[in-house]
Amino acid sequence: TDPETFIRGLPKTDLHMHLEGSIEPELMLELAERNGIPLRWDTADALRAAYDFHDLQSFLDLYFEGCKVLVTERDFRDVTSAYLARAHLDGVVHAEVFIGPQSFTERGIPIEALMRGVLGAMDEARAQHGITSALLISVHRHRTEAEAMAVLDQILPWRDRVVGVGMGGAEVGNPPSRFARFFGAARELGFRTCVHAGEEGPAAYVREAVEILQVDRIDHGNASMADSALVRDLVERRIPLTVCPLSNVRLRVVSNMAEHPLKSMLEAGLHVTVNSDDPPYFGGYVTENLLACYDALDLSIADVVRIVRNGIEASFITTEGRDSLL
Ligand code: HPA
Ligand code: ZN
Repeated sequence: TDPETFIRGLPKTDLHMHLEGSIEPELMLELAERNGIPLRWDTADALRAAYDFHDLQSFLDLYFEGCKVLVTERDFRDVTSAYLARAHLDGVVHAEVFIGPQSFTERGIPIEALMRGVLGAMDEARAQHGITSALLISVHRHRTEAEAMAVLDQILPWRDRVVGVGMGGAEVGNPPSRFARFFGAARELGFRTCVHAGEEGPAAYVREAVEILQVDRIDHGNASMADSALVRDLVERRIPLTVCPLSNVRLRVVSNMAEHPLKSMLEAGLHVTVNSDDPPYFGGYVTENLLACYDALDLSIADVVRIVRNGIEASFITTEGRDSLL
């Protein structure tokens, strides 16, 4: 079989994926129409053409604009169902998906609508396709820590259904240490933790994430490679990095796929996984991400299998569940 068929057929995970960033253009237009939300684009192609970014902020501007089409419980259900169905076709057997409630609660959307829609779709997808999923609640680092703490309060009724908390948004100028209290409180409550670090920010932010926030996983983490002592710590402590190669190319974290550090990260012994981040915005699901790396970085099939196994090991689901995937 050819590499694409082989990679698509591998039982994979997607551990770094934002539900708000998973809305395909056709669904975006449908939701806008349904909710009477005006959009600046009237065709899927026009919307797709707008996915032309020069940095993280130019992406975030469009991503937050796209959030406006999600209003009702049904909308959250539809977006989650569409992603999980698509991921299932891509050979993903387990997904850990982020949603950031602040984009919605700031517009007066009740957290109940979001949680019921997303969790309902996750249960349905498991019954329908067999795909398992876990929910990660993400806060915005460009807002205050007090606002992040309020999110923690809001999700308490669902603490048994939320596996962990994370943080995304504008990285430079918003170091992990600014949210030390929030991550401490999240850990106290029994949530697993992860944080976006070392995407546009420096290796020092990854170090803060590990040492001050004591997170279980780093999202992205590319910049770690600039600090060999940090790499040693990450390897020793086997802290997973959820790398998103197509995202890194499209947000110009790397100039092209051939320059991507994934292979060096693997060779350094880092616990790297490959994930989709925001699939329609960046042009691919997990298979396309793995294939792009395989092609551009001269990975072996054994490297790809290693990365896929790393994803299963790095997941936040229980040991019992994980063993059945391995
Ligand atoms: N980085 C920061 N914030 C984000 C991302 C990302 O890759 N995706 C969605 N929100
Ligand atoms: Zn992300």
